[in-house]
Amino acid sequence: MNAKVLVTGGLGYIGAHACVALAEAGRSVVVVDNLANSSSAVLDRIAELAGGPPAFVHGDIRDIGLLARTMRDHAVDSVIHFAGSKAVGESVGLPLSYYDNNVGGSMALLAAMAATGVRRLIFSSSATVYAQSGRMPLAETATLGASSPYGRSKLFVEHMLADLCASDPAWSVACLRYFNPVGAHPSARIGESPRGVPNNLMPYIAQVAVGQRERLSVFGDDYETVDGTGVRDYVHVLDVAEGHVKALDYLQRVNGCATINLGTGHGVSVLQMLREYERASGRLIPFQVVARRPGDIDRCWAEVSLAHGLLGWQARRSLAQMCEDSWRWQRDNPLGYR
Ligand SMILES: NC(=O)c1ccc[n+]([C@@H]2O[C@H](COP(=O)([O-])OP(=O)(O)OC[C@H]3O[C@@H](n4cnc5c(N)ncnc54)[C@H](O)[C@@H]3O)[C@@H](O)[C@H]2O)c1
Repeated sequence: MNAKVLVTGGLGYIGAHACVALAEAGRSVVVVDNLANSSSAVLDRIAELAGGPPAFVHGDIRDIGLLARTMRDHAVDSVIHFAGSKAVGESVGLPLSYYDNNVGGSMALLAAMAATGVRRLIFSSSATVYAQSGRMPLAETATLGASSPYGRSKLFVEHMLADLCASDPAWSVACLRYFNPVGAHPSARIGESPRGVPNNLMPYIAQVAVGQRERLSVFGDDYETVDGTGVRDYVHVLDVAEGHVKALDYLQRVNGCATINLGTGHGVSVLQMLREYERASGRLIPFQVVARRPGDIDRCWAEVSLAHGLLGWQARRSLAQMCEDSWRWQRDNPLGYR
C-alpha cells in the first residue's frame, strides 16, 4: 500500500484545500475529523476536485487508539495536524475546552505517532503566538507571548514539539504560523463555512455582500495606519495549502523542528479589503465605524523570507484573487455547505 498522509481536521476550511493540493501533488490522504466544525458534504466536494474522495475516518483526535489504528491501517508516514478549536474570543470563555482540544488533542496525536513510529508532522500554528509589538514585519524570532487561551494553546504545542525534537533527532516537525488565510478554491466548490457570526473580517464582508448581514462594523478608524483602520497580512488559503505540500517535501529531507511564517509579507487595511471586495463582487458593502475592540492591535504582517529560503514557498495570489474567489464561493454557496 502507498504511504498516506494523515490529515487531522481535513474537512475544515484549510484542511479541505490542503487535501486538494496534496492530491494534485500525487499524495494519498486519510482524513480524521469529528465534524465539530465541518460537514461530511465536504468529502464529495473534495472528491470532485481531487478525482476521488480521500479515505475518511469519522472520529476524534483525542482517541489515541483510533489514531494509532488509522495510522497502521493506512500505512501513514506523515501527519498534517489541522484539527482544533480556533475562535480567539470563544477561547477566553472556554479555556479548558480549548486546552483540552488543542493541547490534549495534540498530545494524543503525538502519543499515537510515537506508538506507530510516524515521526513527520506539520502543525497548524498561528500569528497569535507573537507578543504585541510595534515592530513589523514579524520574523519567527520575534518575541512570543500569546494574549488568549487559543494563542497560548498553540504556543504550548509549539514548545512541546521543540522539546520532542530536542529529545529525539528522528522527529521532523514544521510549525507553520499562518497569518490570515482567506479566499476559497476558484471552483467555488470548497470554502469557509462559518457557523453563526463570522469571527474574521473576510467571511463577514462576504455575508454583507451577499445580503445576509446589514453592514460591517469597523472596529476603530484612529489607528496609526494608512487609513486609520487595522492592518493584517491576508494570505490566500490555496497558497497556505500549497505551503503544506512544500513543507512535507522539506520534512522528507531535513530532521528537527522548524518554525515558519506563512503570509504574504504585506499588510492590508480593513477599508482596503472592503473596497477590493466591492470591486470583486460589484456590490456596495455598507459599514459603520465603531469603538476599537479591546485587545486588537493596529498592524501585523509577516516576515516571509524563511518560508522562501527553507521551503521554496511564496504566496502567489493577489488580494484581488482572494476577494474574487471568496465572492464566487459566497455567491454560489450562500449557506456554505448547509
Ligand atoms: N483559519 C484561520 O484563520 C487560522 C489562522 C491560524 C491558524 N489556524 C489553525 O489552522 C487549523 C485549521 O483551521 P481552519 O480554519 O481550517 O479551522 P476549521 O474549524 O475550519 O477546521 C478544523 C477542523 O478540525 C475538526 N476538529 C476539531 N476538533 C477536532 C477533534 N478533536 N477531532 C477531530 N477533528 C476535530 C473540525 O471539525 C474541523 O473540520 C486550526 O488548528 C486553526 O487553529 C487557522
